[in-house]
Amino acid sequence: MQIKTVIGFDIDEAKRFLESGETVGIPTETVYGLAANALNEDAVLRIFAVKNRPHFDPLIVHTHSTEEIKKYTEEIPDKAAQLIQQFMPGPLTLLLKKKKIVSDLITSGLDRVAIRIPNHPMLLQLLAKLDFPLAAPSANPFGYISPTTAQHVFDQLQGKIPYILDGGPTLVGVESTIIGFEKDEATVYRLGGLAVEDIEKVIGQVNIQVNESSNPKSPGMLKSHYAPKKNLVIGQLDDLMMQNTGKTIGVIAFDKYIDGIDKKNQILLSPTGNLNEAAKNLFAAMRKLDDSEVEKILAVTFPDEGLGRAINDRLKRASA
Ligand code: TXA
Ligand code: MG
Repeated sequence: MQIKTVIGFDIDEAKRFLESGETVGIPTETVYGLAANALNEDAVLRIFAVKNRPHFDPLIVHTHSTEEIKKYTEEIPDKAAQLIQQFMPGPLTLLLKKKKIVSDLITSGLDRVAIRIPNHPMLLQLLAKLDFPLAAPSANPFGYISPTTAQHVFDQLQGKIPYILDGGPTLVGVESTIIGFEKDEATVYRLGGLAVEDIEKVIGQVNIQVNESSNPKSPGMLKSHYAPKKNLVIGQLDDLMMQNTGKTIGVIAFDKYIDGIDKKNQILLSPTGNLNEAAKNLFAAMRKLDDSEVEKILAVTFPDEGLGRAINDRLKRASA
C-alpha cells in the first residue's frame, strides 16, 4: 500500500507520527535515519519492513542524554564514560550491555545494544520531546547507499513512510563509528564519522575489527553494502582506465581531476584536500554518478588516516 510522503520542518508533526507507531525519516549529523519508537515492537518491525532489512541486522538506539543511556544499559565501562564525556553528542555509537527493556528485535538477540546521542539540533529537540528513544538504521533500502539529504530519503522511501523531517544536508556524511568494550579493551567494529585517532587520544590504543566477511550471521558490516547499482571499482586508476577503454567512465576523486577522462563525469570530493569534506560529499557523489550516463565508476584510494579510513571502507564495500 502506498501512502503520501511529506518532507517538512515540523518537529511536532514528526513527534505525532512517531507516537502513533509510524516510521519517520530523521536528520542526524552522519546520515538520515529511518526512526521508530524503540520501545514499541510493532513500530520497530515496521522499520525492517520498510527497509527490506533482514532481522539478523540489529538497530542503533538514539537518545539525547547520558541519563537516558543509563535507562537502557546495565553498566558503562570507564572508557565508554570517557568517550561519552568527550564526544557525545557526536558521530559515535557505543555497544553496551542492554537492560531487559530493550527488545531482542532491536539487538537481533545479542546482549549488547548499540546506542548513541546524535549531534543534530532538530533531532535533539525531537528526542527531548518524546518519552521514548528512537531505533533508527540509515534510511536507505537495505544494501543501497545511505542518504545524506531529505530528498535522498524521499527518492527511495516515497510512498512507504508518512513524514521526513528535513534538517538539511548532513554535516559528517558517513555513519557513526561503532565501538565496544571487552574487559579493559576497546574495539572499533565500524570505521565512521569519528576518527580512530581522536578516540585514541582519549582512551589510548583501540583494536580495530572491521568485519569484511559476507557472513550474514555476523551482525551488520556486510561486505557488499552502501552499493550503487552500477559497477564501482577502486585502486590504481591508470590500470583501471586501461582495462575499461571504450566505456563511459565516471570518477570519484579526492582533490585532483584524473587525466584522460571527461571532467563532467568526475567528482572531486574535496578540491582543498580535506578528508572531512570528502566524507561529507561521498554518498551524494556515488548517487550522482549512479544516476548519470556513465557505465562504470572508478574511485581513487584515499589517504588511510582520519575520515579517509571510513571513506576507503565504504568504497571497498560498495565495490564488493
Ligand atoms: O550514523 C549512524 O550510525 C546512522 C544514523 C542514522 O544514526 N545509523 C546507522 O544505522 O548507520 P545502520 O542500521 O545503517 O547501521 C548500524 C550498524 C549495523 O551494521 C549493525 O549491524 C550494527 O550497527 N549494530 C547495531 N546494533 C548492534 C549490536 N547490538 N551489536 C553489534 N552491531 C550492532
Ligand atoms: Mg546502514
